[in-house]
Amino acid sequence: MPIRMPLIRRFKKADLEKVYRISDISLKEEYPRELFISIQELWNQGFLVVEISNEVVGFICGVVENSKTSRILMLAVHPFYRNRGLGGEILKNFIEVSSNRGLSKVTLEVRVSSESVITFYQKRGFQLAGRLEDFYTDGEDGFKMVRYL
Ligand SMILES: CC(C)(COP(=O)(O)OP(=O)(O)OC[C@H]1O[C@@H](n2cnc3c(N)ncnc32)[C@H](O)[C@@H]1OP(=O)(O)O)[C@@H](O)C(=O)NCCC(=O)NCCS
Repeated sequence: MPIRMPLIRRFKKADLEKVYRISDISLKEEYPRELFISIQELWNQGFLVVEISNEVVGFICGVVENSKTSRILMLAVHPFYRNRGLGGEILKNFIEVSSNRGLSKVTLEVRVSSESVITFYQKRGFQLAGRLEDFYTDGEDGFKMVRYL
């Protein structure tokens, strides 16, 4: 079988349906399609997808919050393609884009119950930076996490 190399590139509007579906099956919050377009318009360089054999299988998107900080809004890999390094790779690319823009930190929020996701980020240089009460729409608390660049 040929080796299928992942390709990481910027999100484009033609990816919307694929990204929407990956978010729908991967994330507990529901995000409308228009939100993805708004995020792209805010910071195109910070919205990346990972493709395998011309299929979008994961994405990351974020915003620039201020002169120092980018914030990851969503990161998801299709369940079939997890545990192959794709999530880590696309996160690394987002961090590089943030660093190339001259930012000094990347932040994100994660559900307090998502222990494996918290560990995933900790192994990639993020630290816990406070608890956010009632952060999610179902009432669950979140943790703020930060990685300094
Ligand atoms: C979190 C998420 C994006 C990680 O994506 P992923 O593609 O599975 O991430 P990776 O494969 O890079 O890393 C996951 C694990 O696979 C392991 N892994 C990495 N490369 C691997 C490889 N080539 N072969 C086997 N395992 C590998 C890693 O050891 C890693 O485990 P670790 O965190 O203990 O180091 C994915 O699980 C997901 O979409 N979850 C649901 C959505 C979510 O919770 N998102 C985060 C909140 S915004």
